[in-house]
Amino acid sequence: MIFYFSGTGNSYQAASILRGKEEPLFDMADCLWRGETDFALAEGEALGIVCPVYYGGLPSVVREFVRRLTLDRTPDYCYAVLTCGGKPYGAAAMLENDLRARGIGLNAAFPVVMPDNYVLMFQIPEEKEQDRILSEAEARLRRIKVYAAYRRSMGLPIPARDTLATRAMYPAYEYGRRTKKFYSDDQCVSCGICVSRCPARAMVMENGRPKWVADRCIHCMACVRCGAVQYGKSTVGKKRYTNPILKVKQQKHHHH
Ligand SMILES: Cc1cc2nc3c(=O)[nH]c(=O)nc-3n(C[C@H](O)[C@H](O)[C@H](O)COP(=O)(O)O)c2cc1C
Repeated sequence: MIFYFSGTGNSYQAASILRGKEEPLFDMADCLWRGETDFALAEGEALGIVCPVYYGGLPSVVREFVRRLTLDRTPDYCYAVLTCGGKPYGAAAMLENDLRARGIGLNAAFPVVMPDNYVLMFQIPEEKEQDRILSEAEARLRRIKVYAAYRRSMGLPIPARDTLATRAMYPAYEYGRRTKKFYSDDQCVSCGICVSRCPARAMVMENGRPKWVADRCIHCMACVRCGAVQYGKSTVGKKRYTNPILKVKQQKHHHH
């Protein structure tokens, strides 16, 4: 069984590669929304958790989900795949602690570098660079799938310098994930797609424009995939990121 969370598709792509035939795959944000946090594992079934690294730790929604997660049995093997733009820091240790509080032991943690989607702070890599990063990530994920199948214990414990980095960095997420600075600019065509994409359900359409109604969100960048969605001045004119797994095929139109 795999639980995943993904804002811009990287972790969803990772989960799709890791997933075995017929293996159940659940979106943690959807599960939380529906109040589905009780799950039954088959005997010997492994548990996988796949999500991005935020501020050296976990997305708020992942922590909330794990806090409520109830399994009918203790999994024999539990592994985490943490997608990140560069460094996972102590995210795996945070997950290990959160899982331990639910009586679940984490056996392995695999960081996977994928394109950085945090346009509010960084530049999104160029297309060519994205392709290179994604093909390396795909090869790594195929190896991780084998490690997990063999139930290898790997990647833990996390070195103290990384957990210390997380301790310094993660508190800024609570402030960083406020919605106050989000707005849509004149390029907005009132399609409402950003609202429908929001896994936090923190947005509504109002007078043909998206409005961020929750005080805080996950800051997953799903809405920012649209170039008309801005965050203060920090996104204006900047490239946005979407993993190819979420890109719909462009139809060719022949207008003059
Ligand atoms: C709020 C936020 C914080 C992030 N913090 C980190 C970080 O501390 N370290 C890192 O390597 N990448 C960081 N990233 C980049 C993402 O972890 C990375 O792009 C991830 O693969 C996105 O996954 P997704 O497409 O499944 O949402 C951050 C991204 C966001 C949106």
